[in-house]
Amino acid sequence: MPRTETHVTAGILSPAQADKRAEILTLLERAYWMEMETVMSYVANAAGLDGIRAEEVAESLSADVDEELGHARKFADRIKELYGTPPGSRGFSAEQDSLQPPEDATDVVTVIRGVIEAEAGAIEHYNRIIEACDGVDWATQDMVIDILRDEEGHLRQFERYLREFE
Ligand SMILES: [Fe+2]
Ligand SMILES: [Fe+2]
Repeated sequence: MPRTETHVTAGILSPAQADKRAEILTLLERAYWMEMETVMSYVANAAGLDGIRAEEVAESLSADVDEELGHARKFADRIKELYGTPPGSRGFSAEQDSLQPPEDATDVVTVIRGVIEAEAGAIEHYNRIIEACDGVDWATQDMVIDILRDEEGHLRQFERYLREFE
């Protein structure tokens, strides 16, 4: 935790909230990496998918890339605002086993399932952040609620795709 020269006595930037700030920074860092890995996975799968049946799913993934990158940017900005440092790439370790592009490029269902798993993981983590912020960090909470809504939209969209493809 870097030493901070703060000028406020209320809210998450106040010295009294240093421990809480450290806790939230850890959660935000994890959220940042989740978004960055999602960007990588969606770029690869959008490009990799093949076939008429896969076209709409690939296009939708492509559009989501921009949204997920926007989320990553928001998390990085918020880390900075909380006196943290956005992490460098050496801190990254991959976790999205289910989003490795399938060997069969027409295997849309595997990709859809991978997306659902990633979105569900994000939803779970963002709910945790929202709860951790309650009462002490309204601005992070507000930001993450917006992002949560995007992820819930993504999850529902891919649940609908899954129904269609199964
Ligand atoms: Fe996201
Ligand atoms: Fe998402």
